[in-house]
Amino acid sequence: MAKMWAGRTAGEVNKTADDFNSSISVDCRMYAQDIQGSIAHATMLGMQGIIGQDDAEKIIEGLKDILQGIDSGAIAIDPDAEDIHMFVEQVLTEKIGDVGKKLHTARSRNDQVALDTRLYLITEIDDISAKLKGLLKVIANVAEENNGVIMPGYTHLQHAQPILFSHQILAYAMMFSRDVERLADCKKRTRVSPIGSCALAGTTYNTNREYEAELLGLPEIALNSIDGVSDRDFCVEFLSAASLIMMHLSRFSEEIILWSSSEFSFIELSDDYTTGSSIMPQKKNPDMAELCRGKTGRVYGDLVGLLTTLKGLPLAYNKDMQEDKEGVFDAIDTVKMCLDVFTPMLSKMKVKKDSMYAAAQKGFMNATDLADYLVKKGMAFRDAYKLSGKIVALCIAKDCILETLPLEEYKAACELFDEDVYEAIALETCVAKRISAGGTSKESVEKQIEYIKNLI
Ligand code: ARG
Repeated sequence: MAKMWAGRTAGEVNKTADDFNSSISVDCRMYAQDIQGSIAHATMLGMQGIIGQDDAEKIIEGLKDILQGIDSGAIAIDPDAEDIHMFVEQVLTEKIGDVGKKLHTARSRNDQVALDTRLYLITEIDDISAKLKGLLKVIANVAEENNGVIMPGYTHLQHAQPILFSHQILAYAMMFSRDVERLADCKKRTRVSPIGSCALAGTTYNTNREYEAELLGLPEIALNSIDGVSDRDFCVEFLSAASLIMMHLSRFSEEIILWSSSEFSFIELSDDYTTGSSIMPQKKNPDMAELCRGKTGRVYGDLVGLLTTLKGLPLAYNKDMQEDKEGVFDAIDTVKMCLDVFTPMLSKMKVKKDSMYAAAQKGFMNATDLADYLVKKGMAFRDAYKLSGKIVALCIAKDCILETLPLEEYKAACELFDEDVYEAIALETCVAKRISAGGTSKESVEKQIEYIKNLI
């Protein structure tokens, strides 16, 4: 069938080339946004007297019917159509006759695709933000339920200092809270209307772009029509925010995978968020966390893919830009799917506080506190540091821990030591005394929980 744009050419495209050119399989997702945009456009055209009010009303009625028809399945999207914009216009003209041909006055598909993508993304940003808030809520709850549980804190994946488990998971809550902010920021720049750019240079018709934007709930219009149709920064910003969400999920997943190993044994995942092995009967694998970690790669790919597509594109619209949506949609689907699995997995995870505590007793993580004990008794920190190191070596030789080294040994090492050393180096003390803002004390953790809860 000849294309709607047949004119200069007969509009007969080679079948393979036509399939290659078609984007309907991807952009059919935006049918509701495309129709919403067309309704606003027809309303504006009618209001400005660019088309008759009667015609505008007929077009709007027709568009509403099409929306209903696609929603209900009565109208099937034609897989052979060139794209969603052409499809809707074609169905409209078939439905209401020649008046349908007036809809495309003072606009271009270049405007439409930019607008539809923006409208689509705005809804998805809201959806993803809501899911992130759901995750924040679960982290805050798990942190609250387990406040006081001590685990080893790591640097270089080596035992470093005792910390509260809640403090550790709240670090992720802080990351996800920044993700929510980032999405809100990206949404601000997405809520800009490109419609009325009219392919690139604007139009001779007396359009009202501000009114049309207002009808679409967009507070701003693109101030430069060339930029209006060429700008895909909002897609890149979204993909970058999505990549960061995935990076955070991936780091958290990595810890969950480690913690559920028998070497760590800090947590146990609920059976319904694990899988078994086809050959090893004893297995309980953390596949969901692994997949969240693994799928991070594809979202990074979506980001780098689009950046690479856009690099070097001359102004204004180029067909290369049709490649933008697949990655954006993939990132949306991936992030949502991961959050839908990760959040309940976390809420159902069992925290094994005894194993965490036992692990925290290994590795002399209270050595810093031992040095601080001596400093408080008058020794210079460097000397206290050295002496504490020697005492750690003594414990290693005697196969004991700082808490079980006899007082005589302490006293032999330095006369500043007294019975109160045991209280000073108890893991509970090490944690409770870290009262600095943002530290690992219970009170600080409570404040962090409060902060996160206020964001939800
Ligand atoms: N399907 C196109 C896309 O997704 C719509 C814009 C087409 N514009 C054009 N001048 N061919 O980018």
